Amino acid sequence: MTENTATADEPPVLLDDPAPHVRRITLNRPRARNALNTALLRQLAAALSDAAADDGVRCLLLTGGPKVFAAGADIHEMAAHDAVSIQQDERPRYWKAVREFPKPVVAAVNGYCLGGGNELAMHADILVAGESARFGQPEINLGIIPGAGGTQRLLHAAGKARTLKMVLTGELVSAAEALAMGLVAEVTPDAETGDRALELARTIAAKAPLAARLAKEAVLKAYEMPLSAALDHERKLFSLLFATEDRREGIRAFTEKRPPVFSGR
Ligand code: CAA
Repeated sequence: MTENTATADEPPVLLDDPAPHVRRITLNRPRARNALNTALLRQLAAALSDAAADDGVRCLLLTGGPKVFAAGADIHEMAAHDAVSIQQDERPRYWKAVREFPKPVVAAVNGYCLGGGNELAMHADILVAGESARFGQPEINLGIIPGAGGTQRLLHAAGKARTLKMVLTGELVSAAEALAMGLVAEVTPDAETGDRALELARTIAAKAPLAARLAKEAVLKAYEMPLSAALDHERKLFSLLFATEDRREGIRAFTEKRPPVFSGR
């Protein structure tokens, strides 16, 4: 990962396309430990909406750069809220854009990944963590609880006991512990996190994009549907893919003993 040295005037989110069909979003408030203020979330939601609509983007890579992923919601901004204003807050709209992003997302996590930062990382489909990454939901130390899905997504990833241990104590877990509990898919040396995440994103972006999207949809439905309905849903998505040019190309390429070239149709 490259050094992240933004000034206060720079955009809170940076965008680039580091490989074919891969859009990278880099959180860019390093001096505030990438705390997720409203401006950052607004730009993140806009970037996701653009990436969702752009047929050239097949996989998203989300990172906070080499030192920190994100230290959570912006506590200075939160200090200005009361119970009424927090309910009228615009930020849940931006979190909805994160939640509903339909394409595969790989996250590269180095350093602190806390509170809303961990909640953001858990929206990714595959997390790659550097050895020094630290994950936590420390909201209890501020007299609040996670408010962007942390209680639910951590529960699904890590189970009740480990979720409640993190949410009730605010204690952080290491990358190795996060790997053992299923929160992250891989741990790498810190210097390699971005490259490894990019390699995974590049691999996914070379697959049939409609199949990748529907694979993500099929897996995530498990959180919302009973098993029998989710299995029916999976079968319907499976059948749908038989209508695609990419299914024909994938099978043709196999029989012709050559790599497939997917078009997204
Ligand atoms: N919000 C706003 N600013 C933050 C921030 C946050 N969450 N975390 C760090 N910063 C700022 C600090 O205020 C400090 O700014 P100044 O230099 O202007 O004083 C700068 O980032 C550096 O912070 P530290 O000096 O504390 O850096 P550190 O490396 O010693 O410690 C840290 C890093 C462990 C992440 C520590 O900053 C920290 O504990 N941050 C708060 C973490 C937290 O409680 N997150 C949960 C927020 S609530 C939430 O996320 C709700 C939700 O679910 C949506």
